[in-house]
Amino acid sequence: MFARLWTTVSAALLLQVFSANARMMSKVDMQAKQAAAAQRLATLAASGQGQSSTGVKNITFSNPKASAFYVDGTSIPEVNFDIGPSWAGLLPISNATNETRQLFFWFFPPGPQGSLDDLIFWTNGGPGCSSLEGLLQENGPFSWSYGQAMPTQNQFSWTNLSSILFVEQPVGTGFSQGTPNIRNEDDLAEQFVGFMQQFLEVFSELKGKNFYLTGESYAGMYVPYITNYIYENPGVLDLNTRGFWISDPSIGYDVIQEEMPAVNFVNKYKGVFSLNETYMAQIQSLADSCGYTNYSDTFVTFPPKGPLPIPGNNTEGARGCRLWEQIFDAALLVNPAFNIYRIFDTWPILWDVLGFPGSFEQVQVSPIYFDRTDVKQAIHAPVNVTWTECSNINVFPHGDGSPPSFTVLPNIIEKSERAVIVHGLADYILISEGTRVVIQNMTWNGLQGFQTPIEEDSFVVDGMGALGNMHSERGLTYYEVALSGHMVPQFSPRAAFQIMEFLMGFRTTP
Ligand SMILES: *[C@@H]1O[C@H](CO)[C@@H](O)[C@H](O)[C@H]1NC(C)=O
Ligand SMILES: *[C@@H]1O[C@H](CO)[C@@H](O)[C@H](O)[C@H]1NC(C)=O
Ligand SMILES: *[C@@H]1O[C@H](CO)[C@@H](O)[C@H](O)[C@H]1NC(C)=O
Ligand SMILES: *[C@@H]1O[C@H](CO)[C@@H](O)[C@H](O)[C@H]1NC(C)=O
Ligand SMILES: *[C@@H]1O[C@H](CO)[C@@H](O)[C@H](O)[C@H]1NC(C)=O
Ligand SMILES: *[C@@H]1O[C@H](CO)[C@@H](O)[C@H](O)[C@H]1NC(C)=O
Ligand SMILES: *[C@@H]1O[C@H](CO)[C@@H](O)[C@H](O)[C@H]1NC(C)=O
Ligand SMILES: *[C@@H]1O[C@H](CO)[C@@H](O)[C@H](O)[C@H]1NC(C)=O
Ligand SMILES: *[C@@H]1O[C@H](CO)[C@@H](O)[C@H](O)[C@H]1NC(C)=O
Repeated sequence: MFARLWTTVSAALLLQVFSANARMMSKVDMQAKQAAAAQRLATLAASGQGQSSTGVKNITFSNPKASAFYVDGTSIPEVNFDIGPSWAGLLPISNATNETRQLFFWFFPPGPQGSLDDLIFWTNGGPGCSSLEGLLQENGPFSWSYGQAMPTQNQFSWTNLSSILFVEQPVGTGFSQGTPNIRNEDDLAEQFVGFMQQFLEVFSELKGKNFYLTGESYAGMYVPYITNYIYENPGVLDLNTRGFWISDPSIGYDVIQEEMPAVNFVNKYKGVFSLNETYMAQIQSLADSCGYTNYSDTFVTFPPKGPLPIPGNNTEGARGCRLWEQIFDAALLVNPAFNIYRIFDTWPILWDVLGFPGSFEQVQVSPIYFDRTDVKQAIHAPVNVTWTECSNINVFPHGDGSPPSFTVLPNIIEKSERAVIVHGLADYILISEGTRVVIQNMTWNGLQGFQTPIEEDSFVVDGMGALGNMHSERGLTYYEVALSGHMVPQFSPRAAFQIMEFLMGFRTTP
């Protein structure tokens, strides 16, 4: 399916390329090379740990309550293939008889190549964005991404690795029920763990599995704090927590992850931004005077020379030094489809069944996929909830009172077997240069930051070659994925798959 679609697209492109320049390689040669590239990706998908069997691992749940959550994989609206058995619905966040809060989940057992010993939990960020985004557009068994006419099988589904549980959390997100009341990330962790306790009572065959917590963006707060809560309250969950993944994560101050690196980022991708020279000179001089330009060259050393300072002494960026937003405005002037989540996007804005494609007002006309009654019915979701990808309700009614997650990351890296931080290099909403700063400012397993430099081209993806940078020390592996926007499993699924294989111990090298 994937390969055929690709060829059609390239054929359409060819017509224009070749009428414009007759000296290029022949049409046939170019088509052959493109087809081979698509075929190579398909072959890479099939070269996992697997055999060629079909169907999922035989997994059954003895608790009769489980059957009420069973989803028929042949009757998912618009999906014209069998996604296999799965279980979905609402479960409360505690066993109190008066409990009114419920979270929505969708659980998938492993595919034929996956392990029965493991369980992955995935959450999106926001705060208030639904994990069904991850399911449908990043790492679930079927995908319906921007611009796709219909859902397709995800060749790089994480169900090829093990079971995966998508949870819409915290309360106030997606289909979840009840009124949000959390004050900080510890409250969030407690409610999530309460939900997991209820989940493991119904799906008790999953007790004792190796557990991996994964998420993206604002889940750079959720995942570290939940993981920390689990490690600090041993016995609270009957699972064997082994590690975590956070990608394009919110782990530090805005001045570090957005403001300081903004102009350096524009310089690196000058041709993509295409801002005029007068404006470039203006923002460069502002970055110089704000102490941003040479910040990394000065302070991000391997090993670090001591704690890293806050430029301008304002964790949100000093007044007059908030460059991120004005660059965003300028980028939108020349590229009305400018996408903070993947800077390479240009006009037209692609159609998105989830209604949240990028930095722009959503333009979908037909109903949002998870807001369709037939979809809600198929997955035991409440039909009377208007589903939006990112909640209009504030899930932290009085704000998130927790400090950045760099405060808990050292502890959970030390207690995990493996831990990965991943960053797409084409992400503008959170910028990889800032993530490096946060890492170099943390002390874990007795030392501050990485001791030796992150080498260029050190992330090598099997069958693709160098696709960014990677560095591993004292239980933490950091990846920078070339060409990927904010949602790494969506934009670079082969890379994401390999990183998960490493996290879960299915491969020895990162
Ligand atoms: C994942 O499983 C599907 C279905 O068995 C298979 O077609 C695909 O090649 C597998 N992908 C990987 C990366 O193992
Ligand atoms: C699946 O497992 C259950 C319980 O272990 C068993 O009764 C059933 O026969 C198995 N089904 C298949 C298709 O292997
Ligand atoms: C609720 O859960 C707690 C802690 O897991 C347990 O001690 C208690 O017995 C449970 N109560 C009910 C009514 O099931
Ligand atoms: C349930 O009842 C307990 C004890 O009466 C109370 O403290 C708690 O706030 C109630 N919970 C909800 C969700 O109403
Ligand atoms: C940054 O460093 C370069 C190279 O050392 C130097 O030429 C430049 O003046 C510095 N800029 C600022 C604003 O400090
Ligand atoms: C580095 O860590 C120290 C101490 O934890 C903190 O005070 C400082 O603000 C941090 N710097 C950055 C750049 O986050
Ligand atoms: C930030 O605060 C420190 C300590 O108070 C001071 O030494 C430094 O000059 C300040 N930096 C800026 C840019 O204001
Ligand atoms: C250059 O870019 C700035 C910022 O977007 C804009 O205000 C200005 O009009 C542009 N100048 C020209 C000549 O396009
Ligand atoms: C939706 O329906 C359920 C059960 O039918 C009910 O408990 C809930 O209050 C309703 N929610 C809204 C927002 O109407």
